[in-house]
Amino acid sequence: MKTIFSGIQPSGTLTIGNYLGAIQQFVELQNNYNCYFCIVDEHAITVPQDRLELRKNIKSLAALYIASGIDPDSSTLFIQSEVPEHTQLGWMLQSISYVGELERMTQYKDKSQGQEAISSALLTYPSLMAADILLYNTDVVPVGDDQKQHLELTRNLAQRFNNRFNNIFTVPEVRIPKVGARIMSLQEPSKKMSKSDTNQKGFISMLDEPKRIEKKIKSAVTDSEGIVKFDKKNKPGVSNLLTIYSSCTGESIADLEKKYEGKGYGDFKQGVANAVIDTLRPIQEKYEQLIQSDELDAILDQGRDKASLSAGKTIKKAKKAMGLGRK
Ligand code: AQP
Repeated sequence: MKTIFSGIQPSGTLTIGNYLGAIQQFVELQNNYNCYFCIVDEHAITVPQDRLELRKNIKSLAALYIASGIDPDSSTLFIQSEVPEHTQLGWMLQSISYVGELERMTQYKDKSQGQEAISSALLTYPSLMAADILLYNTDVVPVGDDQKQHLELTRNLAQRFNNRFNNIFTVPEVRIPKVGARIMSLQEPSKKMSKSDTNQKGFISMLDEPKRIEKKIKSAVTDSEGIVKFDKKNKPGVSNLLTIYSSCTGESIADLEKKYEGKGYGDFKQGVANAVIDTLRPIQEKYEQLIQSDELDAILDQGRDKASLSAGKTIKKAKKAMGLGRK
C-alpha cells in the first residue's frame, strides 16, 4: 500500500480553503493509502504565536481532522513536536539546502514582506517540511496549490540526499485537487484565503456559525456585471464563489452557471452560503462532541507512537548515511 503524508499548521481555526484544498481530499484518499496526517505545530511558530492560543488550536485542529471524516484507527493522526525525529531530520536537510533556493519560496516572500524582524525559521521551514514528508517514505502528498513549490523543493532535497549519501528517501509526488486547489479571500479575490488573515471577513472559518457564514458570503467582493460566469481573470470574486459552491456540492461549474443564468448575485450568494453551511453543519456537530471528550488525547497518543516507530527507522538510516554519531 502506498503512503500519504500531509500536514496542517495550527495557526488559527481552519478555513473553508484548508478544508476544500486539503482535508476533503484526505478523507477521500484515506481508505486506499497508508496515511499520516500531522498537526505541524513547529511550522506554526515560524511566526509569533500566543502560547495558550497555540495549545487550543492544536486540539481544535485534531478535532477538526476527525470531525471532517479522518478515521484515527486507519490513519495516523499526530502532533509534529511530539515526534522529535522531525526537527532532527529537518536540521540534516537544512545542511543540504541552499539559502538561494529557500529565499525563492513565494510563501517566505509573502510572509516576510513588510516585517522588520523575520525569524530564520520562516526561511528554513521548507527543509523541515521536507523532513516531515521524507521520514515516512511518503509516495503522495495531497496539498492545496500554494504548497506546490515547497513540494518541488522536497523532491529536490530527497534526490540531492540520495545522490550525495545513500539512496534512502522515496521521492514523493504531489497531488492537487482539480477544483478547490486555491480558494481565494472573499475580500481580496487576488489573494489566497488564509486562516491567519487579519481581515476576518476575508475567510470562512470551519467553525463559523451559519449566520456569520451567510453574512461573510453576502459581503464577498464580486463585480457590477450581475452575471454568474466563471472567468478567473475578469471576474475573480464570482469565480471564487463558484469554485467554493462546486467543491461543496459536487455540482460542476458549468451546471451552476446554468442554474443561475438570468438571476442576480443575491440568489447566487444565498446558494453559495447554503452550500457552505450544509457542508460544515455535520462537521461542526461532530466537532462539538469531540472537543469536550477525552477521546482526543488517546487518539493523539496512539498516533505519536505509530509515527515514532516509522520515523525512528528512517532517522537511523539517514544519520548513518551522513556519518553522524558512532554507528
Ligand atoms: N486558500 C486555500 N485554498 C486551498 N487550499 C489551501 N490550503 C491552505 N490555504 C488554502 C491548503 O491547506 C493545507 C494546510 O495549510 P497550512 O495550514 O499548512 O498552511 P498554509 O498553506 O499557509 O495555510 P493558511 O491557511 O494560509 O495558513 P497561514 O495563514 O497560517 O499561513 C495545505 O495543503 C494548503 O495547501
